[in-house]
Amino acid sequence: MRNTLLDEINENGFIIIEEFLTVEEVEELYRAGRALCMDAPQANRKIFSTVNASDTHSKETYFLESGDKVSYFFEEGAVGPNGELLVNPMHALNKVGHALHTEHPTFEKITFSNRVREICWQLNFNRPAVCQSMYIYKNPGIGGEVIPHQDSSFIYTEPNSTIGFWIALEDCNLQNGCLQFIKGSHKSGVHRRYIRNKENDANELLIYDRSAPIYPQSSFTPLKVSKGTCIVIHGNAVHKSEPNRSQQSRHAYAFHVIETENNVKYSQDNWLQPIKDKPFPILFECKDKNECD
Ligand code: FE2
Repeated sequence: MRNTLLDEINENGFIIIEEFLTVEEVEELYRAGRALCMDAPQANRKIFSTVNASDTHSKETYFLESGDKVSYFFEEGAVGPNGELLVNPMHALNKVGHALHTEHPTFEKITFSNRVREICWQLNFNRPAVCQSMYIYKNPGIGGEVIPHQDSSFIYTEPNSTIGFWIALEDCNLQNGCLQFIKGSHKSGVHRRYIRNKENDANELLIYDRSAPIYPQSSFTPLKVSKGTCIVIHGNAVHKSEPNRSQQSRHAYAFHVIETENNVKYSQDNWLQPIKDKPFPILFECKDKNECD
C-alpha cells in the first residue's frame, strides 16, 4: 500500500506540497532563471502564447525542436514588429525550455532529487521518465494568460500517466497570476489534444484536434502558494493562470513525468518526441513492488 498522496491526487487532481524546496534551493533556481534572461537570443526572437498559439509557436520548428535543448520563448508584447525588444530583457521572456532537466545542472539536480523520486514512487510509478522541463517567468504587467488546459493534451500517454511538478520560485497570488484549478476535473478524460499536423504543406506544424472547451470561471479555485511550494498536477486536471497584473514577477520551474512501463504508450502524435538513441531520462526503475533502483 503506497499512501495518501495518491488518494489526494485521485480526489482533487493536484497535490500541494509546501516547503518542497529550501530557501537556498529556491534562490539558486531563481538566480539560474534570471541568468538565462541574459543568454536569450538577440535576434530572431520567438514568441510563445497559449492565447494565440496558431500565430506563434505552433508554426515554428524552433519550438518543435526544443525538446532536447535550452530554447528561449518571448512574451508576445515584448517583441516589436521588426523583432526588436520592447521591454527590459529581464522581463521579456515567457519561458525557457524544454530540456533544462538534462542541459542545466542546477535544474537537473532538483529534477532528479530523491524528493521527486519519492513522490513518483508514492504515486505508483514503476519506471517514471522526465520528458520535459521549463522555467516560467510570468513577468509583471507583461506575463500573459495561460488558457485553461490539461497537460495531457500536450503530453498524451495511453493510458494516462502524465503528471506535472510545478514549483513556485516566488509567492503566487491572484494579482500575479497564480495557478487555478477545477477540482476533480481530472476525472472527465482528455478534452482535446495538441498534435503534430499530418498535412505536409501545412502552415501550422502543430494543431488542436478540436476547439477549446468552455469552462465556467466560477469552477476554478485559485491556489495561492508561497515560494518553495510544489504543486503536483494530474495530467487530466484542468488548470489555467491569468495575466500578471501586479508589479511582482511570478517565476516557477515546472517539469513533466510519464510512466514508461506497465504497457503505457507515449503518443507519436505528441509535439514532443524523444530524440533517436536519447530516450527520456528515467527517475528510477522498479524490478518488482519491493525493489527499486
Ligand atoms: Fe499546465
